[in-house]
Amino acid sequence: MSNERSGFSSRIGFVLATAGSAVGLGNIWRFPYLAAKYGGGSFLLVYLILTVTFGFTLMITEVALGRKSGTSAINAFGYFNKKYSFIGYLTSFIPFIIFPYYCVIGGWVTKFLLVSIKGQTHAAASDTFFTGFISQLAEPMICLLVFLAITTAVVILGVKGGIERVSTFMMPILVLLLVGISLFCITRPGAMEGVAYYLKPSIKHLGPTTFLAALGQLFYSMSLAMGIMITFGSYMPKKSDLEKSVSQVEIFDTGIAFLAGLMIVPSVFVFSNGDPSMLAKGPSLMFVMLPKVFDSMAFGNILAAVFFILVFFAALTSAISLLETLVAVIMDKFHIKRVTACILMFIIACLMAIPSSFGFGIWSHITIMGFSFLDFFDFLSNSVLMPIAAFLTCIFVAYIIKPDVIINEVESSGEFKRKPLFLVMIKYLAPICIIAILVFSIMEGLGLITV
Ligand code: PHE
Repeated sequence: MSNERSGFSSRIGFVLATAGSAVGLGNIWRFPYLAAKYGGGSFLLVYLILTVTFGFTLMITEVALGRKSGTSAINAFGYFNKKYSFIGYLTSFIPFIIFPYYCVIGGWVTKFLLVSIKGQTHAAASDTFFTGFISQLAEPMICLLVFLAITTAVVILGVKGGIERVSTFMMPILVLLLVGISLFCITRPGAMEGVAYYLKPSIKHLGPTTFLAALGQLFYSMSLAMGIMITFGSYMPKKSDLEKSVSQVEIFDTGIAFLAGLMIVPSVFVFSNGDPSMLAKGPSLMFVMLPKVFDSMAFGNILAAVFFILVFFAALTSAISLLETLVAVIMDKFHIKRVTACILMFIIACLMAIPSSFGFGIWSHITIMGFSFLDFFDFLSNSVLMPIAAFLTCIFVAYIIKPDVIINEVESSGEFKRKPLFLVMIKYLAPICIIAILVFSIMEGLGLITV
């Protein structure tokens, strides 16, 4: 029933829940590795500039669309102009693809959390631990079920009683743990060289690939173009200052990514005796390299446990935002109860997660366009569908309903200081940048270019 659609109780509730969505595996695992790969300080600088321009524009657009229409993505576009409802359908379809495989990774995080709490970091540091685990049949599925069940329980409790309450509790803890752990890491012997490596700008990296890598990362990190920000915007109190809230989410998201880098880059640097090529290991960094790094450090067991609690919280709040978006879509479209929608999604996600999980074990011989199932879903959503949805959103706002709709919504609750920037971005620069990401990431995904 639409009267079940409640909202956040306060502006801070909105900021913490939205930051909870934005801060996820992308910040803690992907950002540090990209920053190290693309010239440290240069990448940070490019990323920062893009956050306050491009990221800000897309995020404020989505939140304002949601608040103005009071509905999730599926109806939000049609609310303004019936002819363009298809953008809402496309946008709402994206989290259906992402959620199941995100929970598979959430299951891996759950496993590593349990292992590190039990003090078994040494076992986790062996070369075959991670691959041995993900190639099994039952255990990754059980871990996924645990992660999914916790996520579903929070979403059943609703926006105020579940999501807002969990985010208000977890996000401050996450910040404290991360500050503590990065302070510990940068004060280890030899770590300062790693810090210098992380922060020192290198001019040779100030090129188009760094720009595009930062842009792609930003997209993912801010949870853009999958209806999440529209849904959360629809729960935002009408009188809350929109620009201020979006700015605070940006600071949160970027700050946490920066701190995660400050923790991970120097630690790996020390572990590898100054050879940063280990950072370039990409996906295996978090589950293979980091346990080794922790195992080699004083207080490694405690550090590993704290780190995986942090990663678990970050992944959980992101998964919650994905499930909430899906549940809101189902509730808005089919007018069914929240609990029913949650249970339905739980079952769908379990079934859809099976190929992604088995793709590393018994189904590893099956590939789609050369990708494993999980990588294929990731490619389809992040590299293809999300840029298309974001591009259509920009065009819709800039040329169909006109930017004034967004501006009026922002100004109805406060000042819009970055209005001139917003206008230039939404009309010209953002659509161009998005097309660039689309072309770049499809070529990269298909192996036509390597960066
Ligand atoms: N923004 C999250 C991150 O940085 C990723 C995410 C993707 C969150 C999809 C929700 C949905 O990790």
